Amino acid sequence: MQTTDATLVLGGTGKTGRRVAERLQARGIPVRIGSRSGEPPFDWDKPETWAPALQGMSSAYISYYPDIAVPGAVEVVGSFANLAVKEGVARLVLLSGRGEEEAEHAERTVRDSGADLTTVRSTWFMQNFSEDYMVDYVRAGEIALPGGETPEPFVDADDIADVAVSALTDDRHVGELYELTGPRPLTLTDVADELSTTSGRDIRYVPVSIEEFAAGAAEQGMPPEAIDVLTYLFGEVLDGRNSHTMDGVHRALGREPRDFREFARDAAATGIWNAPVPEAQR
Ligand SMILES: NC(=O)c1ccc[n+]([C@@H]2O[C@H](COP(=O)([O-])OP(=O)(O)OC[C@H]3O[C@@H](n4cnc5c(N)ncnc54)[C@H](OP(=O)(O)O)[C@@H]3O)[C@@H](O)[C@H]2O)c1
Repeated sequence: MQTTDATLVLGGTGKTGRRVAERLQARGIPVRIGSRSGEPPFDWDKPETWAPALQGMSSAYISYYPDIAVPGAVEVVGSFANLAVKEGVARLVLLSGRGEEEAEHAERTVRDSGADLTTVRSTWFMQNFSEDYMVDYVRAGEIALPGGETPEPFVDADDIADVAVSALTDDRHVGELYELTGPRPLTLTDVADELSTTSGRDIRYVPVSIEEFAAGAAEQGMPPEAIDVLTYLFGEVLDGRNSHTMDGVHRALGREPRDFREFARDAAATGIWNAPVPEAQR
């Protein structure tokens, strides 16, 4: 099959994929957004949508949804990688999760596809606080999560995108596994302090049990599958196994990762945390 230098960016409207797509486009590289709202649409739950999305692509960024550690993800991501290679896609960059056995299993199945692979194994994103479910906690001034006092070296999605784009465009990353973290571990108390300082608002961390969190999330209308993912992540993965920092950003890019304070300052400047919390979520 004839290929072009075009890249399929799965999750291309999400927290990392959007940034990957923007960077590739800025370099003049043709991009196809792979998501349900893409053209053609790509849906992980509808394998018949995969081949049309892969048509004519020479590389792909794989960001699975909802989470690479959920049951069934290994088989789905593996099938996608095999199809991609069959359709002539030579290079894959896989976004994986840190400290998750299931995610490592998925990494192996993608490696077995035979593609030129770079694995980007990432810790929790800073942008969960500005572009995902945690944004309403910050707006409400109370981060009510079952995070205990376990430190986590949150990473900036901009750093993940920089690494992914470098891996998609530069042969030296083929075969590499990069574990990406930010430069310092932060507890949720530290996060609340950083957010208070940068936003000028009073934001507190309120530890809750897993059960309280799940009940509250259900009340606010969070889909059950999203609650399952989050209770798994808070209950099992946030146990200290990922508290240490890693040098993946430096190894891949030759520079230090962005600090949480820079992220918080930039996010606060957009006004994202000033919007009112919807009544149903108070
Ligand atoms: N968030 C973290 O802290 C974190 C940390 C480490 C690893 N990860 C990994 O990152 C990956 C993405 O997670 P995320 O939280 O960052 O989400 P995200 O990329 O922000 O998720 C949203 C994206 O997924 C697309 N999407 C949703 N349902 C889809 C479906 N059925 N088929 C195809 N595309 C679909 C959305 O576009 P449409 O709505 O247009 O379909 C959008 O582009 C996961 O595999 C997760 O394991 C996340």
